[in-house]
Amino acid sequence: MKLKTALISATIFAACMFTSASAKQLVVGFSQIGSESGWRAAETTLTKQEAKKRGIDLKFADAQQKQENQIKAIRSFIAQGVDAILLAPVVETGWDAVLKEAKEAKIPVILLDRTVNGPKDLYLTAVTSDLVHEGKVAGDWLVKTVGDKKCNIVELQGTTGSSPAIARKKGFEEAVKGHDNLKIVRSQTGDFTRAKGKEVMESFLKAENGGKNICALYAHNDDMAVGAIQAIKEAGLKPGKDILTVSIDSVPDLFKAMAAGEANATVELTPNMAGPAFDALDAYLKTKKEPQKWIQTESKLYTQADDPQKVYEQKKDLGY
Ligand code: AHR
Repeated sequence: MKLKTALISATIFAACMFTSASAKQLVVGFSQIGSESGWRAAETTLTKQEAKKRGIDLKFADAQQKQENQIKAIRSFIAQGVDAILLAPVVETGWDAVLKEAKEAKIPVILLDRTVNGPKDLYLTAVTSDLVHEGKVAGDWLVKTVGDKKCNIVELQGTTGSSPAIARKKGFEEAVKGHDNLKIVRSQTGDFTRAKGKEVMESFLKAENGGKNICALYAHNDDMAVGAIQAIKEAGLKPGKDILTVSIDSVPDLFKAMAAGEANATVELTPNMAGPAFDALDAYLKTKKEPQKWIQTESKLYTQADDPQKVYEQKKDLGY
């Protein structure tokens, strides 16, 4: 009888140990760039929601646009012994040393929405769109829309040195190359923010005969386009008509501007990068098989033909 009781107790003890080991909560550090745009805010919200849904303990660090803060955050995640790190890198270069430290600590790093320059074995995978393609989609739309008309373009670039700023510029230039009627006459960074987009657009308008010499605006994100649209209106011109606009992200406010006829086109970038990232991490932790190096998200073009008011209604409560 005593032996039976002892056996039952041992079994219960073993079962409890197994349950607590298998149910160990995953701890993931997330080094976010900051909150420069509506898109970025949505990515933060959705990452937190995804983590909660999956029972992941997410350690969130806002770098306030500074690479040094991101490096500090990664080092602190390593010191805490997290199970994995999500990194949205503010710029492309300067990550090798800290990524090596994570690798030595056997902590997988997943890049979110932007890429880095450097050895690919320093991170597990990258969940991003095809950033060059996005610029190309925007440029192709403009080429098709203006036809043979002469068109002076002004460009608002994203954060200097960031992969989307570099790639979106490249893709757009590829699209307009060979179309001699289209010319980029001004190009400057607006730091992916609404305020800077407005400020730089004001200077473009002043320099280009109050805007009369400008036919189109290409902005590397919607927030800068929204700021620029305000500047165009204040200069007494009609955005969407006197000056065409094309930008990237597809945030609700851009659809609002499109519905009012003040913007023309936007290329969608999903803010839910965390869903595919956590799926890849989960599979990797279970199988130890490395996922593909690049998990590509879609880049869909929206124009006036897509009922912008309806898209606005659908998107407005999604965390932007
Ligand atoms: O890396 C993605 C870009 O970063 C988004 O297009 C922009 O809005 C952002 O801040």
